[in-house]
Amino acid sequence: MTEVSVAKEDEAATGDLVVLKSVNKHFGALHVLQDIDLTIARGEVVVVIGPSGSGKSTLCRTINRLETIDDGSITIDGKPLPHEGKELARLRADVGMVFQSFNLFAHKTVLENVTLGQVKVRKKDKKAADGRARALLDRVGVGAQAEKYPAQLSGGQQQRVAIARALAMEPKVMLFDEPTSALDPEMINEVLEVMQQLARDGMTMIVVTHEMGFARSAANRVVFMADGRIVEEASPDQFFSNPRSDRAKDFLSKILHH
Ligand SMILES: Nc1ncnc2c1ncn2[C@@H]1O[C@H](COP(=O)(O)OP(=O)(O)O)[C@@H](O)[C@H]1O
Ligand SMILES: [Mg+2]
Repeated sequence: MTEVSVAKEDEAATGDLVVLKSVNKHFGALHVLQDIDLTIARGEVVVVIGPSGSGKSTLCRTINRLETIDDGSITIDGKPLPHEGKELARLRADVGMVFQSFNLFAHKTVLENVTLGQVKVRKKDKKAADGRARALLDRVGVGAQAEKYPAQLSGGQQQRVAIARALAMEPKVMLFDEPTSALDPEMINEVLEVMQQLARDGMTMIVVTHEMGFARSAANRVVFMADGRIVEEASPDQFFSNPRSDRAKDFLSKILHH
């Protein structure tokens, strides 16, 4: 699975989970996403890399409809993105998102952060939601912090809570937008390890990161973006050892030799 296939008509049959076809988006005069075609198979881990300002965050945000698109289509599990209301809340639950800034609810405990959506969106009863939350907090290694508030945790712990909160919703796909960029170096690995485990467990993941070690060991495919376009896609091995485009070569020389 080193090259992306041409978008297929029958997503359910082929196991494609996230399909973007000819997606375009502008911010005023800026053409931030240009004819994006991207297909993510069920269970696939795709790492998106590229220079700052190339549209990586915008791409992620369109997939859970934090941003609208001008034209083209995006489907999740064969269904177009809903526009509003309950359907949109469910989509946001199906597409878990973890941002660079941890985005936890500051005035809720860690446990409440992980139970809230389960009760409100997934309509779980409180006890079941609590049980799942505690199990997930244990799994990401912060079970002992359940009664604390986010500000009492380290950045690495907060980010792991954010991952647990997204997982609590039983998402079909997880989007990570530079999840370790705001962390002190000693905390980066504890977050990457949780993500590695998730990848091994078969979660479908789209990960924007400059952590090349993670890309090499966890990604099935690397997508390189520049100036709003997908310039190159390849297996991590192929991409890192033999990038084809000048843009990718230039980018890699900067991040690998700084
Ligand atoms: N809400 C917005 N309004 C206007 N311009 C934006 C907005 N969000 C992002 N941009 C611009 O779109 C471009 C791509 O941004 P972004 O998707 O954040 O790139 P990346 O994540 O690759 O750094 C940048 O030039 C950025 O300034
Ligand atoms: Mg970004």
